[in-house]
Amino acid sequence: MARKRVLGTAAFMAAALTISALGSAVAAPVAPGSAHLGASTPRIVNGNDSAPGDLPFLVALLDAYDFDDEGAFQAQFCGGALTTTTTVITAAHCVVDDETGAVTPPEDVLVGFTRNLKAPNVRTVSVSAIRVHPSYDSDAVTFDIAVLTLAEPVLDITPILPMRPADPLSLVAVGAPAKVAGWGSLSADDDSFPEAFKIGRLVIFPNESCGRGSDFSVAGVTFDGFGSSSASADTMLCAAGVTSNRKIIDSCQGDSGGPLIGGDGGAMRLIGVVSWGEECAITLPGVYTRVAAMADFLISTNALVSLAPTVAPVIDLTVLNTALRVNFTVADDGSAISSYTANATDPATGQVFTCTGQPRVDLLPPFCTISTLVNNTSYSVTGSTSNSLGSSPASATVLGTPIGVPTPGAIRKVWSSNDRTIAVVVRRSFANDAPITSTALSCAPVNGGSTKAAPVRGGMAILKKLRPTYYSCVVIVTNALGSAASAHKLINVTR
Ligand code: ARG
Repeated sequence: MARKRVLGTAAFMAAALTISALGSAVAAPVAPGSAHLGASTPRIVNGNDSAPGDLPFLVALLDAYDFDDEGAFQAQFCGGALTTTTTVITAAHCVVDDETGAVTPPEDVLVGFTRNLKAPNVRTVSVSAIRVHPSYDSDAVTFDIAVLTLAEPVLDITPILPMRPADPLSLVAVGAPAKVAGWGSLSADDDSFPEAFKIGRLVIFPNESCGRGSDFSVAGVTFDGFGSSSASADTMLCAAGVTSNRKIIDSCQGDSGGPLIGGDGGAMRLIGVVSWGEECAITLPGVYTRVAAMADFLISTNALVSLAPTVAPVIDLTVLNTALRVNFTVADDGSAISSYTANATDPATGQVFTCTGQPRVDLLPPFCTISTLVNNTSYSVTGSTSNSLGSSPASATVLGTPIGVPTPGAIRKVWSSNDRTIAVVVRRSFANDAPITSTALSCAPVNGGSTKAAPVRGGMAILKKLRPTYYSCVVIVTNALGSAASAHKLINVTR
């Protein structure tokens, strides 16, 4: 399990800030072949095994020369995360020579996409540029972040979105769960490395433990904090985990540059980059570059762009007369949505009707209304969201049948309009698609005053105790979908 290692000089220092850099490559002695690793063997340090399909955006940085000679397992020197189709975020110390400050030439690095470094035919992508944060300080290990630009886009792997200042702070709040993943050492004490990456489940430490020296306890294990001489919560994030049997979970040598991941699903974010620690898995947290504080650099290197929507909306329908209103509910995936689109397909003819809505300025859910549909026809409706970069997957299909408000009848004949009473004969109304629940005659005095109404029964309605004036009368017919009014009729009421 031993792997030839490239280690930065700092790793050999007494109270070592354990960092490694390709730039100052030193081949560590290969440890004698160790015994088969049993189930209780530590990984990341005290992490879990990964499974196929896990964290596909996790990449291995490979020394291009070692890769050709000896394969990915020997060539891996750091981790990284694919954040767009063409960018990988890693640690600056992975690609800067500590002593000279020289940046590794891009042709010396390959980006490996594989879970298992010993898999046959590891997929690699060349690097066309390496850009290091302009404020990176290798002594203080501040702004420990760099962006690799890939020589060709990777279109089949979903990148992880870096956390931005506008993202919910709960992602990096005290005690928030986070994951770290990598092919780094399984223990600080020996040279034992996994073939497939490991995942460590960590919790975020308070800022006070990441530059102000405060203790912090995780599951009954008390950790010391880093003081201001070594850490700063402005640009760093401290995290560690504890297993159910009180072993400390931490990243370690070889994990550098790899992702610290917060959130789940569409809310998943790259919140940190493995940067440094003191030994591994002792009662001090690991220290990560705080990604949300690096947004300017990440935007300037195109490692952070707003994304096309990635989550399908959930839709529901409001049934209308010859129309369906489509209401959208969208989980936040960090993308800015510029339009909401819905399609209604008539299953019988295959004809598709469409509507598009814009984001709302109020807090009401966004919607659009598909019109010119045929009442009493069942349509299959789906919705999606989009911005200039693309569209979300379609929502689940919802069936909707437009049905109409009634077609009102009319006042056919005024039977009488004296004695302060009106009696009218009403022509039949049509229910359309929902039964009529009420039909009423409603009359309003034209020169102001209260409206009077009476039910229509047997095609007739009578209104009494009116004032001797002109009334404007309509028939109002109601079903479950709403009401419709007939044309007005002017009636002169006399004593
Ligand atoms: N600097 C190390 C590397 O190059 C990562 C150290 C992380 N250490 C820790 N205790 N969390 O791989």
